[in-house]
Amino acid sequence: GKGEFDHFMLKEIHEQPTALTQALEGRIDPEHGRIALADFEPGTFTDIESVQLIACGTSYHAALYGSLVLNQAGVHATALLANEYSVSSPPIDDDTLVIAVTQSGETADTLNALRQANAEGATTVTVTNVVGSTAAREADEALFIRAGPEIGVAATKTFSSQAVMLTLLGQRIAADLRGEPPADLETLLAELAAMPDAIAGLLEDSDADAIADRYANSQSYFFIGRGLGFSVALEGALKFKEITYEHAEGFASGELKHGPLALVTPETPVFAVFTGEEDEKTLKNAEEAQTRGAPVIAVCPAGHRAVDVADDHLEIPEMEADLAGLLANVQLQLVSYYAAELLGRPIDKPRNLAKSVTVE
Ligand code: F6R
Repeated sequence: GKGEFDHFMLKEIHEQPTALTQALEGRIDPEHGRIALADFEPGTFTDIESVQLIACGTSYHAALYGSLVLNQAGVHATALLANEYSVSSPPIDDDTLVIAVTQSGETADTLNALRQANAEGATTVTVTNVVGSTAAREADEALFIRAGPEIGVAATKTFSSQAVMLTLLGQRIAADLRGEPPADLETLLAELAAMPDAIAGLLEDSDADAIADRYANSQSYFFIGRGLGFSVALEGALKFKEITYEHAEGFASGELKHGPLALVTPETPVFAVFTGEEDEKTLKNAEEAQTRGAPVIAVCPAGHRAVDVADDHLEIPEMEADLAGLLANVQLQLVSYYAAELLGRPIDKPRNLAKSVTVE
């Protein structure tokens, strides 16, 4: 049941510290600076040259996040919408790894793309929550995120767990390609180990309900971010539109001035995600929206320069860029939740949507 919570979504948002603890259990060894993924021992990916990540919806945003982790670690990687794959897939060679990211493991679009990748000779892995799912059976290997059941139609804890597992898997792949572990692996593993507590603290102190209250009657909601923060902006907007039924869009911070700025008015709050990836530029982009009257809500650590510039802010604990976006995402999940609650929406079962989309 929902226990002390009014909705499964809020319960599942609060389950993230536990979900991440389960995801990481036995899979990292921060003391020795080692990744310990049982089915992916060092050497597993030595023959891999490039990676394609395929997924839909929220899982696509996790895939995008994972593709950036891989690119930043020096591996050729692209995130692709599974429903576009049959008409636009890049060439597959026998040194291509295809990672199907799917919470349910039953999404028809994603299964079709996975089947195509299998047929074309790729090595395939699925990152999924459901043991025994079709994706888990059909991919060469499965990496389970162990988030526990997710009942709310809006994916929350599973996004965080997918992103964390893709970060680990990505570093494993990068280490194999380079023949040595990344230089900053120890820091990353220590921060991963600290994630559950960081999220628990954030959940306790969040002002997301007050922010949702302040801006709940706006016309449109924009979310901007850079790098890993861009995937978080996209996810923030998807969650918001899905459960509030209000218009929300995510943009790469630098894209605002290439068109979307025409939509910006005092009625369009802009949530700006700061992940330590060229934050100065994102701040400048946010200020351009502010000049047009839009309130800017910065999602950033305390003491960040954006706090002084923005109209409001949501605080995240200080972390390396690899993980800061995931903390920001939790704040945005809460904003969506509280905004939907104020608007009286059926949060766990938004209209027209199903938890698992088994048709093309
Ligand atoms: C949004 C949401 C959907 C799913 C998408 C893929 O909150 O839940 O966008 O992420 O339908 O589902 P899975 O991950 O089961 O393949």
